[in-house]
Amino acid sequence: MVRPLRIEIAGALYHVTLRGGGREDIYLDTTVAHRQRQGVVLQHLAGGFHRNDSAGVDEGVCAHVVCRMGGQDWYKIAEPDFPYTKNYMKQPVLEREISADDAVLWQDGELYLLDQRVLPHEECFVHCSRGVDAAKAITDMVVRGAPAIGVTAAYAVVLVARSAWRQAQGGWKTAMQDELEQLAGARPTAVNLGWALRRMQGLIAGLDQGNPEPLLLREAKRIHAEDIRANHVLGDLGASLIEAKTSVITHCNAGALATGGYGTALGVIRSAWAAGKIERVFADETRPWLQGSRLTAWELQRDGIPVSLLADGAAAARLAAGGIDWVIVGSDRIAANGDVANKIGTYGLALVARAHGVRVMVAAPSSTIDMACPSGGDIPIETRDGAELLGCAGNPVAAAGVDAWNPVFDVTPANLLDAIVTEKGIILSPDAKKLDQHMS
Ligand code: MRU
Repeated sequence: MVRPLRIEIAGALYHVTLRGGGREDIYLDTTVAHRQRQGVVLQHLAGGFHRNDSAGVDEGVCAHVVCRMGGQDWYKIAEPDFPYTKNYMKQPVLEREISADDAVLWQDGELYLLDQRVLPHEECFVHCSRGVDAAKAITDMVVRGAPAIGVTAAYAVVLVARSAWRQAQGGWKTAMQDELEQLAGARPTAVNLGWALRRMQGLIAGLDQGNPEPLLLREAKRIHAEDIRANHVLGDLGASLIEAKTSVITHCNAGALATGGYGTALGVIRSAWAAGKIERVFADETRPWLQGSRLTAWELQRDGIPVSLLADGAAAARLAAGGIDWVIVGSDRIAANGDVANKIGTYGLALVARAHGVRVMVAAPSSTIDMACPSGGDIPIETRDGAELLGCAGNPVAAAGVDAWNPVFDVTPANLLDAIVTEKGIILSPDAKKLDQHMS
């Protein structure tokens, strides 16, 4: 049997063809030198892999590969010595079942990110051994969603500090600077990235020249745990706003995958479902990355919450059809006046909701509120490569040469929102004064 598999190795996509046997025979390896090359084909041989391109002898250090095939166990393929003739040991590393609540995993001193580009059809972790791997994973959307990006950044600082300490010992603070800057620039809109980095840097400022890893790791774990706790609290608060059993619409994915765990908008929906208040969730598919189809519907289905997908353009018709009391979304950044940046299409959805008398709730941890950003117009909006829009799942949909405008977030003005819910409480009809009170 020939089984094609897409595998992320420290930042580069490889198309790997597996030939032969069962799980006992799965061994993969690659080198740093390979990362630059696309389309490398590895052919399975007994006890190892042989690369069948003509690039010659490999040099460099092997990257770890963590993968799961055919629903079987997780394996970490450890970094071996060369040459390929070595029989690599396979080590089960992630024994647990895949869970949306484990999108960002710190395990045995290593950072693993559930690859959100390939869910739900492939379940695969990307291993980040360096801060730059994590920065690239954020840029490439292996991990996405504002709070999950923040949690990842916190762990990434630990990785940066680890290598700075190994390289420079007492000079570790200076040695970190370049990689920290790279991390800060990984994606512009989600404020949780800068928020987490500032918090880690605040700790760094007070440390002496000793090995910083233990204390930084403790702080990163704290950030992670606080996010999960905040989501449970705001989930319950948001659910309390839903008076009677109803269907809701959500946009993009503001679920466990997009956070440290539990989710924000989907956290509200999870809590409301538990309280018997959810009839059905309508999930916008969310072009062009399809976070709704691929991630939100997957999460809800796994939770046993009834979900129907909507083409983004169908949301207005669905609202007009009735039976929807709330639109519930997350946010990447909330300005001091209550304007909210979220996935492109949220603004249009909020306008249509207002036109139909349907209320709009934004659920986010307070780390998403940026009091240094006066209004929505001051929020940096990420524009991504038009190619993301010109194709779908790797297949071109527009004629060659067609142009595309691809802003991936928009700003919903505060006056279209009925509530912003954080772990600190509920802000009804948000405005600058209420945001200020909420945050002080
Ligand atoms: O481009 P993405 O997938 O990172 O965009 C994510 C969103 O827009 C989410 O709604 C937002 O980050 C909140 S996630 C809890």
